[in-house]
Amino acid sequence: SVKPLVIVGSLNADLVVQTERFPRAGETLHGSPLRILPGGKSSNQAAAAARLGGEVRLVGAVGDDDNGRMLVAAARESGVDTRGVALRSDSVTGTAVITVDAQGENTIVISAGANGTLSAADVEANRVSFDGASVLGLCLEVGIDAVLAAARAGREAGLTVLTNLSPYAAVPDDLLLATDVVLLNEHEAAQLLGVDLDAVEWSDVGAAIARLGVPHAVITTGSAGCVVLSGDDSPVTVPSPRVGAVDTTGCGDAFMGALALRLAEGDALVAAATFAVRVGSFAATRHGAQSSYPTPAELETFSA
Ligand code: RIB
Ligand code: NA
Repeated sequence: SVKPLVIVGSLNADLVVQTERFPRAGETLHGSPLRILPGGKSSNQAAAAARLGGEVRLVGAVGDDDNGRMLVAAARESGVDTRGVALRSDSVTGTAVITVDAQGENTIVISAGANGTLSAADVEANRVSFDGASVLGLCLEVGIDAVLAAARAGREAGLTVLTNLSPYAAVPDDLLLATDVVLLNEHEAAQLLGVDLDAVEWSDVGAAIARLGVPHAVITTGSAGCVVLSGDDSPVTVPSPRVGAVDTTGCGDAFMGALALRLAEGDALVAAATFAVRVGSFAATRHGAQSSYPTPAELETFSA
């Protein structure tokens, strides 16, 4: 049987307004009615994997407020085990202020709230979540101490550690050394390596990431799909189906949840990435992050 996944990280209430175009600095625009939707990269990743049938344990923190309760309820509804999500009486739930334009592109500003309180001690307190699990998913929306502690715990417990360096920040070498697969978009990859991606070959990117101690990388390339890099192996490009994007918010998280699930099921990285591209594309065709994630049946009928 397929072993559980563990996702350690963030939950955010997404405050979403659609606008025709993004405002310029100092400009005021009218937008759509406000929607408050379940989000946060880790919570999204967990929801994506669970909706696709995975057994998923989420470790994180929310405030003891309406948004926090909404997020826990939404995660449960997607089938996520939320026993590892702490309710903090002394902080507010994380929020993301999001604008989506007519092309389905977004801008996102996050305010960490309770996510910023997640600590190594919380990871320690949830060590039982790692028992019998196969894949650990991480991102950078919670404190780096918690991320590092989780990566170490995951490594120790023999899990495949999948780290999404998003939103990008320089991280301790030890995090990379404890990571099996790093997931990046093109901007994040350029920042990690300090290079202009247009000026280098994918094979050089893979080799450079391997020199940082990470054996595998998956670089998402937006509507183009992704590239799978494993050290000195030839890069493998995975194309994306063409879709009419209405909202790309959380597509990367859908990709990661799907990738984690397929790795847990024993797929090789390229096969897992091929499935993940399809799930990420599906998510772009619907509004919101988690609200756009498919069940296997929905994915089946997705003809792109
Ligand atoms: O990746 C998309 C997510 O980023 C949103 O759900 C928002 O909460 C921010 O964390
Ligand atoms: Na979407």
